[in-house]
Amino acid sequence: MAVGKVHLVCFFVLTVIQYVKGDYIAAVVEYQPIILSSVNETVEQNLAQYVWYIEKAKESYVQIIVFPEYGLTGIVNDTTGYAIQIPNVGNDTDFENYWLQKLSNAARGNGIYVVTNLLEKVIDESNKTLYYSTNLVFDKNGKIVAKYRKINLSSEPQLTPGNPDQNQTTFITDFGITFGVFSSQDIFFSNPSKTILSKNVTDVVYPTSWSSFLPYFHSLTTQSGYAIANRINLLAAGLDIPEVGIGGSGIWGADGTAFAYYISGNAGSKLLIATVKNTPDMRVLGEGTKLRGFENLDNNVANHLDTYNASRFFDYDKYSFKTLNISRLNVSKEVCHKGFCCQFSVNVSYAPVNSEEVYRIMAYTGPIGILGSKKTHKICSLIGCATSDISTCGKHNVGLTTKFKRISVNTSISSDSYSFYRPISLTTNLVPVFNSTFNFVIANHARKVVYLNDQEPSDVVAFGIMETSSAVSNTFNIVFFTCIYVFHRLFL
Ligand SMILES: *[C@@H]1O[C@H](CO)[C@@H](O)[C@H](O)[C@H]1NC(C)=O
Ligand SMILES: *[C@@H]1O[C@H](CO)[C@@H](O)[C@H](O)[C@H]1NC(C)=O
Ligand SMILES: *[C@@H]1O[C@H](CO)[C@@H](O)[C@H](O)[C@H]1NC(C)=O
Ligand SMILES: *[C@@H]1O[C@H](CO)[C@@H](O)[C@H](O)[C@H]1NC(C)=O
Repeated sequence: MAVGKVHLVCFFVLTVIQYVKGDYIAAVVEYQPIILSSVNETVEQNLAQYVWYIEKAKESYVQIIVFPEYGLTGIVNDTTGYAIQIPNVGNDTDFENYWLQKLSNAARGNGIYVVTNLLEKVIDESNKTLYYSTNLVFDKNGKIVAKYRKINLSSEPQLTPGNPDQNQTTFITDFGITFGVFSSQDIFFSNPSKTILSKNVTDVVYPTSWSSFLPYFHSLTTQSGYAIANRINLLAAGLDIPEVGIGGSGIWGADGTAFAYYISGNAGSKLLIATVKNTPDMRVLGEGTKLRGFENLDNNVANHLDTYNASRFFDYDKYSFKTLNISRLNVSKEVCHKGFCCQFSVNVSYAPVNSEEVYRIMAYTGPIGILGSKKTHKICSLIGCATSDISTCGKHNVGLTTKFKRISVNTSISSDSYSFYRPISLTTNLVPVFNSTFNFVIANHARKVVYLNDQEPSDVVAFGIMETSSAVSNTFNIVFFTCIYVFHRLFL
């Protein structure tokens, strides 16, 4: 009898343990690649830096470290010399390629999972050479445990999009977390950024070389928006070229917590380390769950923002706007564009010091150039403007002095576009508007999404909701990266 009880208790305890995810310590590296005259020297130097960061991370008991896209090579037009053949997931720890060997050794030597991006070369059946942007994950024994070829390319004419049905893109760590892998623009496309979530993934590693476009496509806005909307922990490592608006990294929690983030106009690399807190699997909590996004103050950097030279993508000719009279303090208003409507309720604590300052509300449905020109997307947003001139809206390098009591935005989104929407928020410090809640309810076959902040937000540049249509796309777009190549050529 007593033995039976013990068994029962043990069984119960073991079952519970299975369902309690542990906390773990993660690192992401915002990385400024070193560019030298030869391919070998460039990659060797960057590899040496990577190894240094891996060792440094080990000193802080980091269990997984993520490096950005294009970190080992810099953004290169001609991938030929940089691309290497990469084996599939397997037990080997001996690699023909010296670079892979070095990464594997560093993972094994330090006992850390290492996530990195490389240019991959594949000789196909017809003896043709194909190039991919590939993320690789080494486990702490130096084996490759995941491999992902980027599906949604930017203007990367030499690269081939990865197969839409890849099956080595998730991995389970010895600390009990199932991770998914993708990169950069993928975060705006349902395959893989949504589809991967059907594979029991609770955390995502995300090497990126994101080129920020203000006000709606800023790196940190995009990262935190994805984490919050999908209830996923996201480890985002960004390439660092702030003079062209590339940069912004973070460790984002499924409940909206910013465990760590980094945004700076000062070019340079930065190691971010944070404990990713055990959250219950947020995705099973069901509709209507509130997520409060908040900032963990110890670990965060936003500085030298004047020289963070983000581009703008603000097609104001195409959007519908209304101006809020914020000296009325409490305003509820709706704005519609082609039948798509957004409701805003805004309460102001005190009106702007600068009498020129204006806040507008906007709605838009239609294509968004930087996401490819074909699909229809939707945006609702409150937007801060330095003056009544609409071209001054949505800039970060202006003073906005209005202090709000509460901002709420809501809209209805057809429930077939399942969950593929996210909050968008930005302050003049180029960070999201923290302490906001993001929530949805299903009513009358529509999904009503609410984004709310009642914690007296200030410095608000943008606050809203974006829906991106959920279809696979391999669209090459024009804006992303073209300017980067130019600057790269000029300055690096
Ligand atoms: C690449 O560079 C490293 C040092 O930077 C050197 O030791 C190695 O021999 C070089 N390899 C090739 C193939 O040139
Ligand atoms: C493949 O191409 C290489 C050169 O690009 C050539 O040396 C080799 O013979 C070719 N192999 C086949 C099977 O055609
Ligand atoms: C804004 O509201 C204030 C207070 O209600 C009012 O005095 C002012 O005329 C309004 N301004 C505009 C442009 O409607
Ligand atoms: C905010 O403004 C709305 C009207 O637009 C009003 O109904 C509501 O009570 C106000 N809330 C607060 C907290 O002031």
